[in-house]
Amino acid sequence: MMKNIATLQTDLMGAIGSADTLDALEAVRIAALGKQGSVSALLKTMGSMSPEERQTQGPIINGLRESITSALASKKADLETADLNRRLASERVDMTLPAPETPRGTVHPVSQVMDELAEIFADMGFAVAEGPEIEDDWHNFTALNIPETHPARAMHDTFYFPDEMARDGQKMVLRTHTSPVQIRTMTSQEPPIRIIAPGRVYRSDSDATHTPMFHQIEGLVIDKGIHLGHLKWTLETFLKAYFEREDVVLRLRPSYFPFTEPSVEVDVGYSVVNGKRVIGGAEGWMEVLGSGMVHRKVIEACGLDPDVWQGFAFGTGVDRLAMLKYGMDDLRAFFDGDNRWLQHYGFNALDVPTLSGGVGA
Ligand code: PHE
Repeated sequence: MMKNIATLQTDLMGAIGSADTLDALEAVRIAALGKQGSVSALLKTMGSMSPEERQTQGPIINGLRESITSALASKKADLETADLNRRLASERVDMTLPAPETPRGTVHPVSQVMDELAEIFADMGFAVAEGPEIEDDWHNFTALNIPETHPARAMHDTFYFPDEMARDGQKMVLRTHTSPVQIRTMTSQEPPIRIIAPGRVYRSDSDATHTPMFHQIEGLVIDKGIHLGHLKWTLETFLKAYFEREDVVLRLRPSYFPFTEPSVEVDVGYSVVNGKRVIGGAEGWMEVLGSGMVHRKVIEACGLDPDVWQGFAFGTGVDRLAMLKYGMDDLRAFFDGDNRWLQHYGFNALDVPTLSGGVGA
């Protein structure tokens, strides 16, 4: 018996010593002190011993339990410390590394202009709405009063997805304009509605002034008793705030879009200063926007009564607005990702556009 206890003690001490993880140590503890453990089994034998036997064996067995318990505890503390040190070493941050002298990234002019537009329109009570870039034929065309045979479809240079990718019998397209967000908003919200929808749009077209992907921003107001005067005031207020000039002059020309009636194309006047075109005055005109009163058929397609609800919509190119305000002349450079261009035309990430600070600050 004595010999057995001494061997057990040596074996257990050896196992504790060589346990190199907390899990391995826990397995040793269970094998010794658990319900079925070897030390527990010895403790149980004391119940059936004679008083004399217990007097000699008791202290030995209890001594074994105590020495194993304390060896387990001290090994556990060692393993925990080693674990912590390992984590501290791997998660170390060198606070003495030098920070870059100036922040290197810049905000792309397209993002900057979108932020400026959101700020300007938020001040007029417009929320920002979104829609998918992969759109179905109904939202991109049909609901906007452009049925399948309409010649306007040809004008859009649409990227169509293969027929196998049709969803619910609808052919899918890369949206050719942000106008489908008008439909998505009118079919999911109760009027009155005041939203802008900035985002990417796609057309199969590429030269110095066209890229296959570009950015538009849509505006939509639906309410009672809305007329062309509201449209004109909104666009004038927006363009003055955007170009940060009071002398912005608008010229409205009759035009045609299938989803607006009447349709209005909007030009903004420019002056020539040192041979360069500058927005303001009326020496010449530049087209900046398409707009009009939302067509009755569009309002009906969205399940609203056009005798109750009227509104206006407008759409314009964000990239073009950026070029006009910040003086870039090649649209393709917007999407080249050339760091020199971004360093030159990009904006400081910490200058957030605000109406009080100047949206283009
Ligand atoms: N969706 C039109 C385009 O891409 C612009 C537009 C929007 C015109 C809203 C009128 C109303 O050219």
